[in-house]
Amino acid sequence: ALPKKVKIVEVGPRDGLQNEKSIVPAQLKIRLIDMLSESGLPVIEATSFVSPKWVPQMADHAEVLKGIRKLPGIRYPVLTPNLTGFQAAVSSGAEEVAIFGAASELFTKKNINCSIDESLERFEKVLSAARAADIPVRGYVSCVLGCPYEGKISPAKVAEVAKKLYSMGCYEISLGDTIGVGTLVGMKDMLSAVMKEVPVSALAVHCHDTYGQALTNILMALQMGVTVVDSSVAGLGGCPYAKGASGNVATEDLLYMLNGLGIETGVSLPKLLEAGKFICKALDRKSNSKVAQATFSS
Ligand code: HMG
Ligand code: MG
Repeated sequence: ALPKKVKIVEVGPRDGLQNEKSIVPAQLKIRLIDMLSESGLPVIEATSFVSPKWVPQMADHAEVLKGIRKLPGIRYPVLTPNLTGFQAAVSSGAEEVAIFGAASELFTKKNINCSIDESLERFEKVLSAARAADIPVRGYVSCVLGCPYEGKISPAKVAEVAKKLYSMGCYEISLGDTIGVGTLVGMKDMLSAVMKEVPVSALAVHCHDTYGQALTNILMALQMGVTVVDSSVAGLGGCPYAKGASGNVATEDLLYMLNGLGIETGVSLPKLLEAGKFICKALDRKSNSKVAQATFSS
């Protein structure tokens, strides 16, 4: 059975824009987030408090987070890899953060420059500071269906890392197919393993569409009881530490599918399309959303 309601977590301003080579002005990011807010999205990941040496595109995190118009009822989480990032995020007004681990040692090393165990120690510090400040923490697990450096990743490893993040206090675990290599059976096996350790109500899927499998894999997750899905407006993005990774599934395409299934999201497709059109025009880029392509070509 499919869920009646799905929560869409928009990650375009972060996961999408972090991969842009030339620096996108903060004012443009702010305008994009404000337009996304107008569309009724319940969660918009706004930026990352990571090292500007590692991801120069996110160096304007404080300006962006302070500049957006925060609408009531919408959450604007930001990525924080360590306590330094957490403290900077909170000083800039963050009310929710996300930590990001992976089920692959090599990816963890390339992405946040430490081992999985070291990453968990850092996250523990973030989680205890967050607990004291009453700030909810989301946890990502990357490379759940494959890794650009290690190849195949076992469902047992994903379940182990997901369980640790959940036991540490993350309220939601987002399972990332970082390089979009997964297919249906992989998604099913991985989710089955994770669902033995973490309640399905606390799981999200985060599919990149590199191999065109994202919507199919998401449908499998919905059928298995997942009700939270990450996506990126206009299909923006990739990951700077995962070569060849394309953007997340486009939010417009996800919404079109959910609308077709009669699943409630609270998001307006026309307003979302406007936001996508705005950012593609600003970046001088064709949208990766099929729905946007169809809408604007006619
Ligand atoms: P490091 O170089 O090992 O850190 O980087 P360090 O502790 O040795 O510090 C080095 C310098 O960075 C120092 O400054 C620190 O103060 C500074 P210096 O003394 O050289 O001037 N620093 C910071 N500055 C700003 N914010 C911070 C921070 N921490 C230290 N938070 C570090 C370790 C984690 C910082 C680095 O590797 C990093 O920032 N990595 C982030 C990489 C990233 O953002 N990747 C993309 C997001 S993950 C993703 O996209 C996947 C996801 O979408 C899910 C999926 O698709 O699967 C989430
Ligand atoms: Mg991602």
